[in-house]
Amino acid sequence: MAIRICPSILNADHSRLAEEIAAVATSDLLHLDVMDNIFVPNQTFTLDESREIIASSPIPVDTHLMIADPDLRAVHYAKAGSASVTFHLEASADPIGTINQLRSAGSRVGIAIKPNTPFENVRALLSEIDMLLVMTVEPGFGGQKFMSDQLPKIEEAHRAISKITVKRPWLQVDGGISIETIALAARAGADTFVAGSAIYRAEDPAEAIRTLRELAAQ
Ligand code: DX5
Ligand code: ZN
Repeated sequence: MAIRICPSILNADHSRLAEEIAAVATSDLLHLDVMDNIFVPNQTFTLDESREIIASSPIPVDTHLMIADPDLRAVHYAKAGSASVTFHLEASADPIGTINQLRSAGSRVGIAIKPNTPFENVRALLSEIDMLLVMTVEPGFGGQKFMSDQLPKIEEAHRAISKITVKRPWLQVDGGISIETIALAARAGADTFVAGSAIYRAEDPAEAIRTLRELAAQ
């Protein structure tokens, strides 16, 4: 099974972002957390800042939008060159419309669900997307504890995804992924792993990526 590691630059040192990004160039996708202080109680990269990061990143960018109006704004992040754009189901009044906009703009499409959102709410959309993101913390901040009560939801999502024969979506987890928790998420069926503090608080980010990859593959 293919394993993808996606370092989140949320808690990287933003005063030397280019170096911080270069330090994780052995990973698969750079995870860019966009927050608007409305959908979540925190604010991060603006659209202009995101454009710069996407343009300069040596690896493809996986944009995770924690914003209140993805139906209006998600497409800008696809047009900016994100390899993948993920928006939250809870914030969207028209997921199919937004999926279509993202596709037309040329990016992969992901949908994220928060810990309190049941898998059932997204089941019907699985065949329309390239990735399902099951949040394993409440979105908003890095460095939180992995919510193991989300494991049954990951298993449920994995079972449903396994039944898809054409273009199976990736199953991503985000929040509290570390050398202690990544194997649990992998065993439940996740194949795409976001890790912020586990990589950026490590002495050697490249080694942390290697270790996470090995633990996920076991
Ligand atoms: C949280 C963000 C995450 C965050 C993960 O809302 O979506 O991507 O950066 O950070 P860690 O890995 O430290 O939990
Ligand atoms: Zn994220």
